Amino acid sequence: MTIPIQPRRILRSLTPYIPGKAIAAVSRELGLSGVIKLASNENPLGASPKAMKALRRATADYHLYPESSSPELRLALARFHKVDPDCVLVGNGSDELIRLLCEAFIEPDDEVIVSQYAFLRFKQQAGLMGAKIIEVPMVDWTHDLRTMGMAASLRTKILFVANPNNPTGTYNTEEEVSELLKSVPAATLVVLDEAYYHYAADLPDFPQSVPRLLKRHPNLVVIRTFSKAYGLAGLRVGYAFAEAELVGWLDRIRMPFNVNLPAQRVCVEALKDAAFVKRSVAVVAKGRETLARAIRAMGMEVLDSAGNFLFVHTPVPGRQVYNDLLKRGVIVRPMDEYGLSKSVRISVGTPAQNQRLLAGLRQVLGGGS
Ligand SMILES: Cc1ncc(COP(=O)(O)O)c(C=O)c1O
Repeated sequence: MTIPIQPRRILRSLTPYIPGKAIAAVSRELGLSGVIKLASNENPLGASPKAMKALRRATADYHLYPESSSPELRLALARFHKVDPDCVLVGNGSDELIRLLCEAFIEPDDEVIVSQYAFLRFKQQAGLMGAKIIEVPMVDWTHDLRTMGMAASLRTKILFVANPNNPTGTYNTEEEVSELLKSVPAATLVVLDEAYYHYAADLPDFPQSVPRLLKRHPNLVVIRTFSKAYGLAGLRVGYAFAEAELVGWLDRIRMPFNVNLPAQRVCVEALKDAAFVKRSVAVVAKGRETLARAIRAMGMEVLDSAGNFLFVHTPVPGRQVYNDLLKRGVIVRPMDEYGLSKSVRISVGTPAQNQRLLAGLRQVLGGGS
């Protein structure tokens, strides 16, 4: 049936985001049990047990609407990061914050600058608002912030930087980000997406964006998430730090109850469990090292990663590796969406999951069964 109702013209040219395949879908479709997912950069440890207690307590109040503006969580984040509560916004995942930024600031034909192979949601969301996307090539699989800064003009509304970047895992230093911020017009919003901040924070040259850069640059927005190091991807909570006025515009257009009641409560508790985050980061650092070494020993190129995943160049099409691993109950992420047909992205799992992935890879690429 064809309906006589036309969607916005722009929708026809937009390619939808393809999320990592779910464990349930693979189990159902291939009749497998014990499937493991290393495809969405989730936390292999789960979530903080302390935070999970708050989830159980919250069940008593599920019949109530949550507080619309998530005041307790905003306050907790403000205290934790030593910023004014008016400078904090929480969203339904950082994905919602990316959407809100585009909806609030982009007029049709405004320019938006992204890097080649940057997190795809930037282009997709900005494209939906009718932005003209300027894509700047990477250098050594890393955002070329100098060239991105030079591309910015008075027509540029937003410049997106994922740091570390997904899917490459590469990162930009504080000096590079600082120079970028100095070089763009004051009316260009620089969005620093730090979804993987915790995994990179100890690198000596990684930007300390919240305590240092935010104060100096009112056109900077830093976004982070509870989905990765906090292990709460299923609850969908992201947060942003920016000038109060800027936060106010986003706050005005978000859904009234964008962060649900259990999510608000659990995240307040998750913030208190620093030991859990530390453990999460340590497990990833160790697993990342083990995986990278073993995959390189199989003859493949693996990019150095500051995230909880690895970007791997495969000798055969990435989709083939993905399909062959799927049959063995291991889900990774092919990179065709990015126009990279001979690569896969692999999330770091538990030591047992990593060994299972490696065994699968050896079979798939070595021709074993
Ligand atoms: C760079 C980056 N930004 C944002 C997100 C969105 O995360 P969430 O909406 O779960 O906060 C992701 C998810 O993988 C990501 O990789």
